[in-house]
Amino acid sequence: MSPISLILFLLPSFYLSHSLPVCRDSCADIQIDYPFGIDDGCGAPLYRNMLNCSATFAPLFTPPSSSISNSNSSTPMLTPTIATPSTTPTATASALFFQTPSGGYKVESIDYASRTLTIYDPSMSTCTVLQPHHDFLMSDLQSAIIPPSPDTVFALINCSIDSPVLNHYKSLCFNFSADHSCDELYDSCTSFKIFGMLSNDTPPACCFTSYNTLKFMSMNILDCTHYTSFFDVDTLIKEDEKPLDWSYGIKLSYTLPDTGCDRCRKSGGTCGFDVETEGMVCICSPTINSTRQCGNIINQPLSP
Ligand SMILES: *[C@@H]1O[C@H](CO)[C@@H](O)[C@H](O)[C@H]1NC(C)=O
Ligand SMILES: *[C@@H]1O[C@H](CO)[C@@H](O)[C@H](O)[C@H]1NC(C)=O
Ligand SMILES: *[C@@H]1O[C@H](CO)[C@@H](O)[C@H](O)[C@H]1NC(C)=O
Ligand SMILES: *[C@@H]1O[C@H](CO)[C@@H](O)[C@H](O)[C@H]1NC(C)=O
Ligand SMILES: *[C@@H]1O[C@H](CO)[C@@H](O)[C@H](O)[C@H]1NC(C)=O
Repeated sequence: MSPISLILFLLPSFYLSHSLPVCRDSCADIQIDYPFGIDDGCGAPLYRNMLNCSATFAPLFTPPSSSISNSNSSTPMLTPTIATPSTTPTATASALFFQTPSGGYKVESIDYASRTLTIYDPSMSTCTVLQPHHDFLMSDLQSAIIPPSPDTVFALINCSIDSPVLNHYKSLCFNFSADHSCDELYDSCTSFKIFGMLSNDTPPACCFTSYNTLKFMSMNILDCTHYTSFFDVDTLIKEDEKPLDWSYGIKLSYTLPDTGCDRCRKSGGTCGFDVETEGMVCICSPTINSTRQCGNIINQPLSP
């Protein structure tokens, strides 16, 4: 064998054995497991392109408080270079995002045991932050396979008297607990107090509702200026938590497609799919894919 052909012969295996794992299994401390994937061809095809792991950008450099307080004093700064503000934001960490037609929402956690995923909409109002509404919208596929959980409640706030949820669609509003009302939000949340203060008699209407209402009517049609959402309402009823302590965000409840992933995992593989046909692939190693399972079943620990 000539030296050249030897190199050509060794090159592919050298390259492949040193390549990265096909499917990353975490992003920003959040475990990525079936049915999710952050690399194309990983996880279940139904969840393709729903999650992405992107770099987040640090805010513009702010000098440490010690150098700020020193800046006027007679004490010379010990490390003047620290205080030089950088004009370009630096990529620091990555974050996991859930992509929907209305935007990317930061994933706070994924609980594989209860099959739930919690996301946070940074532009939504909470008990302490008042922000103009923007629609939260999922695709039809997403509403079918990973809809907001039944214990996620949306609160439509400052609805006009013409709002459909105060008139024809009144029945879409509910009280999720006898002890918690919309008025409590106007009374106890620093962000929503303004609505109570602005009105002479009664605060403007508000409506506790489910995601389905937002799915069929945009915030403009609903004619409410703000919204918030919170989850784990069963817990907050039981523990009688005040709105300030509610868990703000959206909890999604996903279904696990039945594609025979168990068999692949038990054989030591990672479930994925062919990016062209979307047929199931059992990824055994960076160089070996199989259709159903990997060959190393004998390496599995035998039960005693
Ligand atoms: C195995 O399948 C994954 C997912 O489709 C793909 O990214 C990878 O390139 C495949 N590897 C081989 C060796 O075919
Ligand atoms: C720094 O000096 C300015 C005026 O020169 C003054 O207004 C400010 O309060 C001072 N800050 C500190 C931290 O001493
Ligand atoms: C990932 O999500 C972020 C946040 O929505 C978005 O800005 C970015 O473009 C997305 N990247 C990819 C590759 O989809
Ligand atoms: C409350 O809603 C009304 C319209 O119904 C709007 O004019 C008003 O600006 C809203 N209040 C706030 C504080 O956004
Ligand atoms: C919810 O509770 C409020 C205040 O207790 C009450 O006025 C309202 O009629 C109740 N709504 C429903 C749909 O039961």
